[in-house]
Amino acid sequence: MMTPITDTFQRPLRDLRISVTDRCNFRCVYCMPKEVFGTNYPFLKKEEQLTLEEWSRLVRVFASIGVQKVRITGGEPLLWSDLPSLISRIRHDTEIRDISLTTNGVFLPKMVKQLKNAGLNRVNISLDALDPKTFLKMNGGILNVHHVLDGIESAKDADLIVKVNMVVLKGVNEHEVLPMASYFKDRGITLRFIEFMDVGNTNDWTEGKVMSTTDIYKTIHQSMPLKPLEASYFGEVAKRYQYVDSTAEVGFISSITNPFCTSCTRARISSDGQLYTCLFASKGVKMKEWLRSGISDEELSSRVKAVWEKRADQYSNERNRIDKKAKIEMSYIGG
Ligand code: GTP
Ligand code: 5AD
Ligand code: SF4
Ligand code: SF4
Repeated sequence: MMTPITDTFQRPLRDLRISVTDRCNFRCVYCMPKEVFGTNYPFLKKEEQLTLEEWSRLVRVFASIGVQKVRITGGEPLLWSDLPSLISRIRHDTEIRDISLTTNGVFLPKMVKQLKNAGLNRVNISLDALDPKTFLKMNGGILNVHHVLDGIESAKDADLIVKVNMVVLKGVNEHEVLPMASYFKDRGITLRFIEFMDVGNTNDWTEGKVMSTTDIYKTIHQSMPLKPLEASYFGEVAKRYQYVDSTAEVGFISSITNPFCTSCTRARISSDGQLYTCLFASKGVKMKEWLRSGISDEELSSRVKAVWEKRADQYSNERNRIDKKAKIEMSYIGG
């Protein structure tokens, strides 16, 4: 029998992931396949999306009820022109000291100094292959790999904490696991391997396309032995390992083979201001309407707390046992 989660006490609201735009300059096969996200795709209109003022207010309110980390995602967050201003407001108006971005990195070379000066601490950059052909296949044929590598370099030069995320698809980029591991080991940059997930409804997910953490781990450990590390914070999504002959680390994000819902402290807000308590949710709470109806900060925070208290999400624990409903797209809700 399925055990309902009642341990909201162990899953306090600590992390906020905000998707500031639903657009992206890439078309990754596992996230925004170009066959679906083409020129006629109905992206959100400007007036449907939250403004800088609204985002600043929401982050302040979430901070006042215990949020300690903010991750800014998209779509591609570097396409949102108010990004430096938002980071600077979070830095000045709240106690939050962990402000991070998840990005494809392409615009980092021209923006990273401004973002760092605004108060950005960390970036997680998506890169699925070093081999140019495989990289193009993964990102929808848009850009050459050196643009992302330049972005990674620029973030290191700006003294940001940098992690690289690689989604591994069987038969597509699995041959890049070792070259990627070796490249980032040499540079002392943490690489995290992500199991391909069934987020959204458009990425043609099947279990057969998932390269499991166990298989990825074996591939690396055979030629570059690894030892386990302790989690660096409660509820860390990635299981961390270090190479035995180096200080470099790798991480494994195993939402399919080893779900981590019982310690999930993450709330997400989409660019049109809907609050989602799970990455796989099919319905959000329309906070934009609350914001635009003129309610007070106190009322806003008590409504958010009420939503969180009712939260029972554990999609990754239940994925094989429940009816699949239409889910929200990853590009809309953020990674
Ligand atoms: P830090 O550990 O704070 O660096 O960040 P993170 O790993 O939570 O953030 P990042 O955006 O880099 O996440 C990497 C990937 O982990 C995401 O793109 C998702 O694929 C996966 N992930 C993150 N949070 C969740 C979650 O709550 N549920 C599931 N199923 N997957 C998640
Ligand atoms: N499965 C796993 N990870 C995904 N991401 C996007 N779509 C998927 C998916 N279907 C990850 C990317 C990136 C972040 C934005 O989300 O790797 O790190
Ligand atoms: Fe864009 Fe990131 Fe999605 Fe790729 S994974 S399409 S870079 S939002
Ligand atoms: Fe949290 Fe939902 Fe991911 Fe589970 S599947 S870890 S509840 S976001």
